Amino acid sequence: FSKITVPELIAKKGREKICALTAYDVLWARLLDEAGIDLILVGDSAAMIVLGYEDTLPITMEEMLIFARAVSRGAKRALVVGDMPFLSYQISPEEAIKNAGRFLKEGGCQAVKIEGGEEMAETIAAVVKAGIPVMGHIGLTPQRAHALGGFKVQGRDLESAKKLINDAKALEDAGVFSLVLECVPKELAAYITREVSVPTIGIGAGPHCDGQILVLPDLLGLFEAFRPKFVKFYANFAEEGRKALNAYLQEVKEGVFPGAKESFSLSDEVKKALGI
Ligand code: KIV
Ligand code: NA
Repeated sequence: FSKITVPELIAKKGREKICALTAYDVLWARLLDEAGIDLILVGDSAAMIVLGYEDTLPITMEEMLIFARAVSRGAKRALVVGDMPFLSYQISPEEAIKNAGRFLKEGGCQAVKIEGGEEMAETIAAVVKAGIPVMGHIGLTPQRAHALGGFKVQGRDLESAKKLINDAKALEDAGVFSLVLECVPKELAAYITREVSVPTIGIGAGPHCDGQILVLPDLLGLFEAFRPKFVKFYANFAEEGRKALNAYLQEVKEGVFPGAKESFSLSDEVKKALGI
């Protein structure tokens, strides 16, 4: 394979940090791929980031597959993971296998991500058994935000810390190839990272995970609706975008754009013949 494979990704644990990001289209998939990002997640965050919903619940399999196909076309080297949307895997292991398989068959992905801990272990094991690599996702699982009582750091008290450790081990046993830890205290993320044999990929989970992931428009400073504490802004694309739009607006109104450089011309001969 010219792509980073699942075993190669697992082998990075303890050797080098894994760099993951989300993407939703081919333009950014290409840039991420060329930059050397190891894993591109086609996140169901697309529901909020691209489609404008309040949370991730409304996005459908069909919508996710459109984003997955676009990203897959742009990623030559990076492993592409399709994020299974709400209700595409919870109903039964059979439905989970069918929908996970669609991310590979139709979406061009190499793996899927499933939210949930021990309660999803049986389903995840069934998907893995079908030959579909699964990335786990525990801690703050946005598809369960209503049940969790909002978007909060998970595993802060003893009981919930123990639950997360238990979840991590259950998912390792179920056969996940990596594990996203979202909004988890850094000491707990470090402990889980030491305890499991597969790479942990942190988001709001401190520096001791085996890798990191962020939502791309967050790190670009493009998504302004909600800015979590764990995001670092590496650029201000929203501000750059506003500057470009204002300049365009002004130049069109003033007749500066398009200029001679951006215009096509008739030959003198044709002009003469037309009398213009
Ligand atoms: O949907 C998403 O972008 C995610 C990442 C935040 C891990 O699940
Ligand atoms: Na997600």
